[in-house]
Amino acid sequence: MLRRLHKDQPASFEFTPANLAWAKGQISKYPEGRQASAVIPLLWRAQEQHGWLTRPAIEHVADMLGMAYIRALEVATFYFMFQLQPVGSVAHIQICGTTSCMICGAEELIAVCQELISKAPHALSADGKFSWEEVECMGACANAPMAQIGKDYYEDLTAGKLRDLIGRFSKGEVPVPGPQNGRYAAEPLTGLTSLKEFESGRKQYNASAQLAVDIRDTVKRIDGTEVPLTTPWLGVPVATKAKAAVKEAAGAVAAKAAEGVAKAEKAVKAKVAEVAAKVVAKAEAGKQPKALKAPKKGKADDLKTLEGIGPALEKLLNDLGIFHFDQIAVWGEAEIAWIDGNLKGFKGRASRDRWVAQARLIGEVGVEEFLTRAKTNNY
Ligand code: FES
Repeated sequence: MLRRLHKDQPASFEFTPANLAWAKGQISKYPEGRQASAVIPLLWRAQEQHGWLTRPAIEHVADMLGMAYIRALEVATFYFMFQLQPVGSVAHIQICGTTSCMICGAEELIAVCQELISKAPHALSADGKFSWEEVECMGACANAPMAQIGKDYYEDLTAGKLRDLIGRFSKGEVPVPGPQNGRYAAEPLTGLTSLKEFESGRKQYNASAQLAVDIRDTVKRIDGTEVPLTTPWLGVPVATKAKAAVKEAAGAVAAKAAEGVAKAEKAVKAKVAEVAAKVVAKAEAGKQPKALKAPKKGKADDLKTLEGIGPALEKLLNDLGIFHFDQIAVWGEAEIAWIDGNLKGFKGRASRDRWVAQARLIGEVGVEEFLTRAKTNNY
């Protein structure tokens, strides 16, 4: 399919201050000279901010990353996650039209879009709420036919089900994504034939749909309320700079003192050293808990079991290499202080909600008994 820039373009694009800070955090993930690696997240953020990806936005991102415009344009036109024209204010619906989905009824889904949204793809519905397009295989062939609506997959669709979904989105509802025919995931329609032990203890929805339900951002645009981007490595230069400032200030004042400068200057030295030492102490407060590169045996504990930890905090902890209750259970005062001071937006949570006591109890009595006791806050 030919993907090209829309004929009507705004005059300019600037990231909002919050998105600019986010973009700079993304760029800082990559080594010097490799900033272009951040092109996809930055283009995505620009699209989320404006609604669709404009030429000024692509050029702005290219300028930020030191890329030729054509390189950023190549990326924007290659991936169909990037919308190069205005899209529906509620949702843009991407119908998979590749083999499995086509055999299972994708053409009927497209007919529904043509009837309810617009005859042609990439055009807005009369009320401006929806747009649609046909896309290539999205890797959910076992649940054909399917569509991506907003950020999530709706699978095992029929024309009637899609018609119903569009109606519900139009009313402001956010239907649960995943299979729409009662299937849990991609198992046989008649149920599992092997690996049946995995049926016990599972959550209400499969992992992907469950996450979508927990995060609730299916058709919601990024607005800054999401899990924050953490860039702990940006803290290292701050501590280093503070140490250097202490040394420099103390050295300068000491030299002057040696020259017999007046008492007032000595006081300045003391004050400068005191303030700088406080900066260092703050930067080094506590001790970062021991991290794992990945969950043990590839399976993390559900940290949300602990009172006070929700999906956002769990993600932050996982990003810090904390995946298991037994990691939390061994934290001492220094580790708790570090966690309390370094979880942006959640300062003081580890001590306030007594994560360590909870994690130790799980180690002693197991999750089931813990949950029973948690109801009475008996830990
Ligand atoms: S063919 Fe439709 S998801 Fe693969």
